[in-house]
Amino acid sequence: MQIILIFLVLAELAQATFPPFFNPITEKLVEFKDPQNTVLQGFLAYPSFTTPLKKRPAVIIFHAFTGRTDFDNNKARDLAKLGYVAFAADTYGKGKAAPDVPGNFAIMGQLLGNRTTILRNRILANWNYVKALPYVDTNKIGSIGFCFGGLCTLDLARFNVGLKAAVSFHGTLTDYPGNGTSIDASVQAHHGDEDPHTTNADADAFLVEMRRRDGDWMFTRYAHALHAFTLPGVENWGIPGAAFNPIASNRSWSAMETFLAEKLL
Ligand SMILES: *[C@@H]1O[C@H](CO)[C@@H](O)[C@H](O)[C@H]1NC(C)=O
Ligand SMILES: *[C@@H]1O[C@H](CO)[C@@H](O)[C@H](O)[C@H]1NC(C)=O
Ligand SMILES: *[C@@H]1O[C@H](CO)[C@@H](O)[C@H](O)[C@H]1NC(C)=O
Repeated sequence: MQIILIFLVLAELAQATFPPFFNPITEKLVEFKDPQNTVLQGFLAYPSFTTPLKKRPAVIIFHAFTGRTDFDNNKARDLAKLGYVAFAADTYGKGKAAPDVPGNFAIMGQLLGNRTTILRNRILANWNYVKALPYVDTNKIGSIGFCFGGLCTLDLARFNVGLKAAVSFHGTLTDYPGNGTSIDASVQAHHGDEDPHTTNADADAFLVEMRRRDGDWMFTRYAHALHAFTLPGVENWGIPGAAFNPIASNRSWSAMETFLAEKLL
């Protein structure tokens, strides 16, 4: 008992003296460029014991129409605690996100208006950045995304670049133009049954696409869930048909944890 107490006191003192050594998660903001030289700024979080000799699986987090925010950075922190190199991606550009909803809808609209070149290049720039990290196991990279980011994570799966798993939370489910080839990533999609932005008709069309592409997919609908159901407080942002739903949010995140563990750990 005394030995245990002495040990605990020593451990406390050591933490007080050398806090960074004991910090279990390392975090940093990083910058990189897309092929059009747009500067992108992502947020990395990973278990501190991660080296080229101890590579880890990675998960890319694609942000919603807001651009990358603390919501995405916190998801990265949560995934790092599960053992992943987690990367909150940036498809808008460093410092480009608007301070308000209409401004961000405009940026998103421009990217969706050029999905096959500009947005594709931005998505792939994030993928290439993570793939080049010397401590990432490049055979075990997955991605997740929210709303617009759901479209980004599904597009990354559609590009067949070697992604292992893609998870969409209330994502935009529109098919990628001009490509019906098979899909090699496993796909998990979470859909609000009362989402007026991505409707049940859109969901049905998505399932037709998934069957055509002969992929390994699973699709879950959440009762009474509107659009953006994982975003706390979104019902106060003046976007009709969007609301946080804690039950759908928790269940979809738990399902993602199991799915990513199966494919990546
Ligand atoms: C998309 O962007 C590329 C590169 O800037 C440009 O060449 C192309 O014309 C754009 N396409 C559309 C539909 O705007
Ligand atoms: C379509 O799929 C093929 C084969 O998986 C892939 O090589 C190609 O890059 C894709 N094309 C587009 C436009 O995504
Ligand atoms: C969702 O998960 C959080 C965190 O674990 C918990 O505090 C909350 O009670 C859960 N909410 C519901 C509705 O399950």
